[in-house]
Amino acid sequence: MLTLAFETSCDETAAAVVDSQFNVLSNVVSSQIDIHKLFGGVVPEIASRNHLLRIECVLEEALRLANVQIGDISQIAATVQPGLTGAVMVGRVFAESLSTAIGVPFIGVNHLNGHLASINLTHKNIQPPFLSLVVSGGHTSLYRVTEKGGWQTELLMSTTDDACGEAFDKVGKFLGLPYPGGPHIAKLAASCKVSPEGYFKFASKMDYSKPVFSYSGLKTAVLNHVNRTKQKNETLDLSLIAASFQFEAVHQLVEKCTSALKKYKSDTLCVCGGVSANEHLRTTMQTACEKSGARVFFPELQFCGDNAAMIAAAALLMKEKT
Ligand code: KG4
Ligand code: ZN
Repeated sequence: MLTLAFETSCDETAAAVVDSQFNVLSNVVSSQIDIHKLFGGVVPEIASRNHLLRIECVLEEALRLANVQIGDISQIAATVQPGLTGAVMVGRVFAESLSTAIGVPFIGVNHLNGHLASINLTHKNIQPPFLSLVVSGGHTSLYRVTEKGGWQTELLMSTTDDACGEAFDKVGKFLGLPYPGGPHIAKLAASCKVSPEGYFKFASKMDYSKPVFSYSGLKTAVLNHVNRTKQKNETLDLSLIAASFQFEAVHQLVEKCTSALKKYKSDTLCVCGGVSANEHLRTTMQTACEKSGARVFFPELQFCGDNAAMIAAAALLMKEKT
């Protein structure tokens, strides 16, 4: 049984073919970053138009790479929420029309369930209960996952203001880096020669005992530092700022997740979403979890950012449940 899935909730036009054992036969992502970076962020109307222009090519490429015909497909899935309304609509209407045309069921998938299900593409045998963090440009939410299939989840913690990836992108903008800032900040931070003791203390007022995530204070502290340095006509140490910001952004995720593992008596954490591609997050979370006797799982890098294979995985899990 083959699932064809589409993801168009933001600025990636994606299609994938996944079999019932969660083997990914193709995973095609056509990114619009080069277009949106001219505007410093995603322009919703431009995103929708480009999804329209690209979706047929992406479908053809996904079928070609999987070496299958459209008639081999047993079900079609697409993201139906949340996301940019017009952008979501393009993928959803295209997928639903195609499912009607070839006479197979359509499965609407919540984008967050897609990120949560991405872990099953890499770690096929992982079994709930476990905690799962979705850390992306739109979300920073910790869930308790209690049931495979239906993805029975309980939201334990969420952000009160900015999402973690959003803070990476905004700080990237303050530093004059291209959109999206996340990967550029990670690269700059990796080139920093200063050890953590010498980092700027951007989050000295952060209260780690609160059961919420918060990134607006950290983001503002970086902005204030940048403005003050410019006013004094001093040079910005970009790699030190990037490393200091990344250190605090990741420290918050690690502190809150390890406390939650203790509080909810869990020994397993999954971390997914675009920011889970961050190398510093992966190594720091791994070390902290090992120290507290827990295991941590990440998706393969190709399944961290928005992609359609994760939407197919979520559809398969929903199907298993019914
Ligand atoms: O999951 P995703 O592709 O889209 C949303 O659902 O939001 O996540 C995109 C976010 C962006 O904010 C991007 O800057 C961030 O993930 N990101 C990273 C890295 N790669 C992508 N942030 C930090 N380090 C990275 N290596
Ligand atoms: Zn996403």
